[in-house]
Amino acid sequence: MTWLVTGGAGYVGSHVVRAFIDNDIKVMVYDDFSSGRREFVPSGVPIIEASITDADSLAQVLHTPGITGVVHVAGLKYAGVSVQDPLEFYRVNVEGTRVLLAQCVAADVRNFVFSSSASVFGTPDVDLVTEESALNPESPYGESKVIGEWLLRDLARAEALQGRPPFRHTSLRYFNVVGSGAPGVYDVSPHNLFPILLDAVSEERRPELFGDDYATPDGSCVRDYIHVADVAAAHVLAARALAADRSLAPAYNLGRGEGVSVREIIAAVEAVVGRAVPYDVGPRRAGDPARIVTSADLARAELGWKASEDLLEMVASAWKAWTDASVEGSARLG
Ligand SMILES: NC(=O)c1ccc[n+]([C@@H]2O[C@H](COP(=O)([O-])OP(=O)(O)OC[C@H]3O[C@@H](n4cnc5c(N)ncnc54)[C@H](O)[C@@H]3O)[C@@H](O)[C@H]2O)c1
Repeated sequence: MTWLVTGGAGYVGSHVVRAFIDNDIKVMVYDDFSSGRREFVPSGVPIIEASITDADSLAQVLHTPGITGVVHVAGLKYAGVSVQDPLEFYRVNVEGTRVLLAQCVAADVRNFVFSSSASVFGTPDVDLVTEESALNPESPYGESKVIGEWLLRDLARAEALQGRPPFRHTSLRYFNVVGSGAPGVYDVSPHNLFPILLDAVSEERRPELFGDDYATPDGSCVRDYIHVADVAAAHVLAARALAADRSLAPAYNLGRGEGVSVREIIAAVEAVVGRAVPYDVGPRRAGDPARIVTSADLARAELGWKASEDLLEMVASAWKAWTDASVEGSARLG
């Protein structure tokens, strides 16, 4: 049994690759290296360098004997950037997913785990969102994730209607993925809080807090932070369940059910680095909801998944990975 991990050279994907290897499940990585890094992929893992929009390359790899399923992590991920370049997000995230699904069915690869996102909910009006909460994406990025989930649903229904073997799938909606679960692998996103913060702290610059006048207890945005290794572990559980012919819910929210503010993150960074982190307060960023936190009850009940790492471990592992990379001279954003 071998799983193809698209985007396996990225931050989340390379942790998924490690989680599969640690559980004795073979993997292959399919990545175009547009944001992924070759050094993030563990040695010995076969790599196909190509785009998910390239039907011929996909057809070739998906016909490799023994491919059980696909974990589809590849994609573009910045909500703000997607507002400026929606067509590119639709090309990669929607068209890429459509091409990949078409090639999966053509090759009779019928197990599929999709990387979705909390952004499908937009700005929720409840304290804890669940899988039942209304989908209300507020950016082309969030919309592309909703469409990805619909593509899976509609394909599975069509396959059933045609009396073909089931197309088994689920979507894992990650909340704010942070931390590091492997030496030398860390989030390099120039738009995410942790890398922005750690980059500034390591260079002794003052980071900027985007807005302190939200309707939250300390005025800064509240998010549900989740360790990347916990997120990766959920993919193993989902892949095993699908391969064992268990039907899963169309989507699971992956979070810790605990809201943490940006100011609390900065305090945790101060605790980890052992010094004060002075920061500037700037204007709000467009499209940032005040608070989004999820219940993970469904993932616990049906996947047997539970986040195990706490906030301090998330910050400590992220800081260690960042400083190790700085020592090696490879720490950089983007
Ligand atoms: N990081 C988060 O907090 C977060 C939260 C929710 C959802 N997600 C989703 O998880 C996935 C991975 O996020 P990440 O943080 O690891 O991002 P990342 O940029 O580190 O990884 C994305 C990977 O996909 C590859 N890729 C991009 N376009 C491709 C294409 N056309 N063909 C093949 N490979 C391609 C990149 O090279 C990279 O290796 C994304 O789909 C993202 O939307 C991430």
